[in-house]
Amino acid sequence: MTSLIPSRDDKFSFGLWTIGWNAQDPFGSATRSAIDVVEAVEKIAELGAYGLTFHDDDLFAFGSTDAERQKQIDRLKKALADTGVIVPMVTTNLFSHPVFKDGAFTSNDRGVRRFALRKALRNLDLAVEMGAKTFVMWGGREGAEYDAAKDIGGALKRYREGLNLMSQYVIDKGYDIRFAIEPKPNEPRGDILLPTIGHAMAFIATLEHPELVGLNPETGHEQMAGLNFTAGIAQALEHGKLFHIDLNGQKGIKYDQDLVFGHGDLLNAFSLVDLLEFGGPTGGRAYDGPRHFDYKPSRTEDWNGVWDSAAANMRMYLLLKERAAAFRADPEVQAALTASRVAEIQQTTLAPGETYADLLADASAYETFDADSYFDGRGFGFVKLNQLAIEHLMGAR
Ligand code: GCO
Ligand code: MN
Ligand code: MN
Repeated sequence: MTSLIPSRDDKFSFGLWTIGWNAQDPFGSATRSAIDVVEAVEKIAELGAYGLTFHDDDLFAFGSTDAERQKQIDRLKKALADTGVIVPMVTTNLFSHPVFKDGAFTSNDRGVRRFALRKALRNLDLAVEMGAKTFVMWGGREGAEYDAAKDIGGALKRYREGLNLMSQYVIDKGYDIRFAIEPKPNEPRGDILLPTIGHAMAFIATLEHPELVGLNPETGHEQMAGLNFTAGIAQALEHGKLFHIDLNGQKGIKYDQDLVFGHGDLLNAFSLVDLLEFGGPTGGRAYDGPRHFDYKPSRTEDWNGVWDSAAANMRMYLLLKERAAAFRADPEVQAALTASRVAEIQQTTLAPGETYADLLADASAYETFDADSYFDGRGFGFVKLNQLAIEHLMGAR
């Protein structure tokens, strides 16, 4: 039995901007007050999380004096020391201030690009000082509304230039930190650069230090593009690029909902937890990093609702982990997996040492292969397998 009580070993973390969201949206003003970082740390520690993450501007307002900035850093450090909470990831706000209205690393305005690099480098120093191992880069404003307004090829070159520069800085300083690009298809820009996991992975391969750059995919962002999050995560894992993850809930192709994890596409959340927890090469954890929640407590909620929703993220994850474990342990599921030949995909298509000449000479592979037997026969039994998965998810087995 897996425990439903969150513990440090579960590696749950929250963004300061998530529990601290004051619920201001494009249609209405805030419904909650700002959170203090010390209270945020104490509260998530009490709930069982192990980590807090933040943007520079979450901790100290844009334009703070050095003294104001340092005061907040010191207050955070004390709260961390008092509670044992750590900072596994830090990220930079390159999207809120008007200066970034046409992006940061890819603004058409070169002066803005140079300012953005300075802001990001300053925050990278802070990330390392806080012990973070991942530096997330969500390019929310890197994009455009109008095709004529942005030279996409040029913008990608400037994005690459920025990441190459930051990578060189990490190498020269001897920092133990890696970058994680967070794809998103749109919002706030009409179209955002590197909109999906796939776009971002192709881009990473063109960098000077691709080993330093991976991904921070977010559940809702892939689902906003109509994509299967679990499948995207599986591909990122297969490429060794899952450096961090943003978990939340999304119901279909619409605005970025940032619901509690599992409160959107529950089936996809189930297969995701099954993959992360039991999809490793030997059946164990496929990903050992933070389980980071990037959600927004709904605008309808007061502070009780904020903390209930924070707890709900962790409980949903642990419930899904429990259900996935039961699914894996069920002998009927094991039989269904075998009948569906799920493990056979691990077998190479050609035998070890076999060549295409051998394949061409193999009559059983073609001349005598009974392709017609797949008509009215040889079904894969995937629906039966899926029914078993859903019954386990529903607690019906
Ligand atoms: C969003 C994004 C952000 C990023 C955050 C970390 O859609 O607003 O998900 O929440 O995750 O800026 O870089
Ligand atoms: Mn989001
Ligand atoms: Mn996110």
